[in-house]
Amino acid sequence: MMQILSRRRVLQFVSILVCAVAVAACAAPTPTAAPAAAKATAAPAAAKPAAGKAAVGVVLPTKDEPRWLQDQAVFQKAGFEPLFSQGDSGKEKANVEALISQGVKVIIITPQDAAAAAAAAEAAKAAGVKVISYDRLIRGTDAVDYYVTFDSAAVGAAWSDYLIQQAGATKGNPLYLYSGAASDNNAFIFFEGAWEKIQPKIADGTFVIKNSSEATALKDKPKLTRDEEAKIIGQITTNWDFNTAKNLAESNLTKAQAADKGTVYILGPNDGTARAIADAFGADKDVKKYFITGQDAEKASVQYIIDGKQSMTVLKDVRSLAADAVAAANAFVAGKTPEKTTTYNNGKVDVPAKPSAIVTVTKDNVKKALIDSGYYQASDFKGLP
Ligand code: BGC
Repeated sequence: MMQILSRRRVLQFVSILVCAVAVAACAAPTPTAAPAAAKATAAPAAAKPAAGKAAVGVVLPTKDEPRWLQDQAVFQKAGFEPLFSQGDSGKEKANVEALISQGVKVIIITPQDAAAAAAAAEAAKAAGVKVISYDRLIRGTDAVDYYVTFDSAAVGAAWSDYLIQQAGATKGNPLYLYSGAASDNNAFIFFEGAWEKIQPKIADGTFVIKNSSEATALKDKPKLTRDEEAKIIGQITTNWDFNTAKNLAESNLTKAQAADKGTVYILGPNDGTARAIADAFGADKDVKKYFITGQDAEKASVQYIIDGKQSMTVLKDVRSLAADAVAAANAFVAGKTPEKTTTYNNGKVDVPAKPSAIVTVTKDNVKKALIDSGYYQASDFKGLP
């Protein structure tokens, strides 16, 4: 069943991409530089633009995290060559300006910094280019036309569900919280989704927060304001950076007493930082056992899960995210409006969106979720259950 579904999904994706390439060809017939969208496509001859400009450009945040290399590979397979901002909002703006001057009609962009990217989005809007926020929302501007995303609140909820399940009826369990970068709107949504589920279990004594005085002070509050979340994130941020994550975990462990250790529960914000945090906890002699969450189903973390060094990850199938982004871009190029099921407020406007579902992956379903679904090959891993 999984295989049939996944083949159908791939076919849907290919047909959307063929359309996108065809639209790229129609939208810009001027024979200039070879378009990224037309390059390396296996589409039939009729769908291949001879030498038109690409209608759609893609900008991703960094090559330094395997998560974005997953997205790059999917876009490349479809004939798009993403530009990378390498953690630099200036480079991101230059990438957007380069695409505008190449004559694109739509830019799909994952902002490096949600607020700083507003200027790039506004430059695109001024040039009549549609902006699709990809995975992360650009904040504080009306120049975002659509948001293609996973259900990020569900990611946070999945972390808390997992930790709550492991704790069962036990009380007084040490809880260590970690988050993503404060410049990434998703860090707030993940945390909000997690807090909503775990807060009652902190309030009833199942968990005791060990590394955030701000979170401890708010432990009886089910719904936090953005400012309150920002205060907590200020204490527990990894900045999405492996070294920051490792250093923060080590410093938390140094300050903690032996009684704050034993069996510990850790909210790991993504796979890269979860591995760094897991290594730090794994090296502490007073930590007897730890449970740690993650997200992105990065290969290295899948191996950690198989090896028992990371407890879970959240699969965010970038094949469907990229397909949604291309379908939305395709609709804009054709003068239509992409399908929306909800909106996300970006501090200025409600941006239309259609969030994709996520899947919790543990050792128990790793084979079904990641191998049988065709996401990875069994040969990518050692010791698959
Ligand atoms: C993405 C995650 C990713 C993180 C760090 C978030 O915005 O949703 O998938 O791990 O950024 O790059």
